[in-house]
Amino acid sequence: MEQNLSERKKRVLSLIQPTAVPTLGNYLGALKNWRDMAEDYDCIFGVADLHALTVRPEPADLRRQTLEMFALLLALGLDPDKSIVFIQSHVHTHAELSWILNCYTQFGEAARMTQFKEKSQKHSDNINIGLFSYPTLMAADILIYQTDFVPVGADQKQHLELTRDIAERFNGIYGNVFTPPEPFIGKKGAKIMSLQDPTAKMSKSDINPKASVSVLDEPDAIVKKFKSAVTDSDSRVCYAEGKDGVNNLMTVYSCCTGLDYDAIEREFDGKGYGDFKAAVAGAVIEELRPIRENYGRIIADKAYLAECASKGAASALRLSTRTLDKVKRKVGLWQKA
Ligand code: TYM
Repeated sequence: MEQNLSERKKRVLSLIQPTAVPTLGNYLGALKNWRDMAEDYDCIFGVADLHALTVRPEPADLRRQTLEMFALLLALGLDPDKSIVFIQSHVHTHAELSWILNCYTQFGEAARMTQFKEKSQKHSDNINIGLFSYPTLMAADILIYQTDFVPVGADQKQHLELTRDIAERFNGIYGNVFTPPEPFIGKKGAKIMSLQDPTAKMSKSDINPKASVSVLDEPDAIVKKFKSAVTDSDSRVCYAEGKDGVNNLMTVYSCCTGLDYDAIEREFDGKGYGDFKAAVAGAVIEELRPIRENYGRIIADKAYLAECASKGAASALRLSTRTLDKVKRKVGLWQKA
């Protein structure tokens, strides 16, 4: 029987691309919130392997990284019996809805997307239509589950706004078909910066290995990366304008320890950056330790991974088909009985 939407728990959905091992930025900006929200909401989390095709990865790399990212979501502590954890390309309804949504999205709207402009510059030899229509696939991921909240980092906010606009436009024509989603962007951690250039976002694709910490980095590597993190010539640990490097480290420390900036300032009053960086590294190591340990066990168990992926795909397909069928009826696609 169709679930009564007003009685159900609020629904949360988010996906991550399998482009490389996620960074501390992905973790603090998104994944940590996913895990925290999984307790209180109906959650759907996935690996966006179709989105990753926009930069035409090596097939063997994409296959391996998709499995690794899926294992990592389980290692994070997402429970496949409580949440739907799935791989995007296993659920064909997303791509179908994204085509329909393309027809309800204006060229100008998609062309305004900052991420499209940035990626077109970065991959100027391959500005394909997939890169352009990337946000409508993302909108389909979200709208097909009648999602209420989408936990993401600040860089995805514009895509969420476009998703709402598409939902409202569609509802304006056909009645209430989609739930317009709200972004859930944490107050802290929504934009973790590079350790080498604290004015740029920490990114999986950064070519400087010292710039980002991966969630699977060994403790020694984490210590080294924080030791070489760019700070400033002042030596006071405080959150202030012009201290981008220190501000970023304070944000990381705050996210990992739960301390606010005042408490951090007090803790490091009279101490130098050396002590502070060592403490940040220690807090990050402890935060990531359980994930690294779980990951080693889960990635080795291919049968378990396959079983979880099948279960996730079956649940996702069942749920998403309800919305897709309704959309098809509304827009006038003839469906045989
Ligand atoms: P992706 O794979 O680039 O990043 C995954 C999540 O990590 C967040 N993030 C950050 N947060 C804080 N600081 C950073 N330095 C940082 N870098 C990345 C991102 O905001 C994101 O939440 N388009 C999405 C994937 C996607 C999606 C969706 C998300 C596909 N369909 C539907 C939500 C709903 C992306 O490329 O994320």
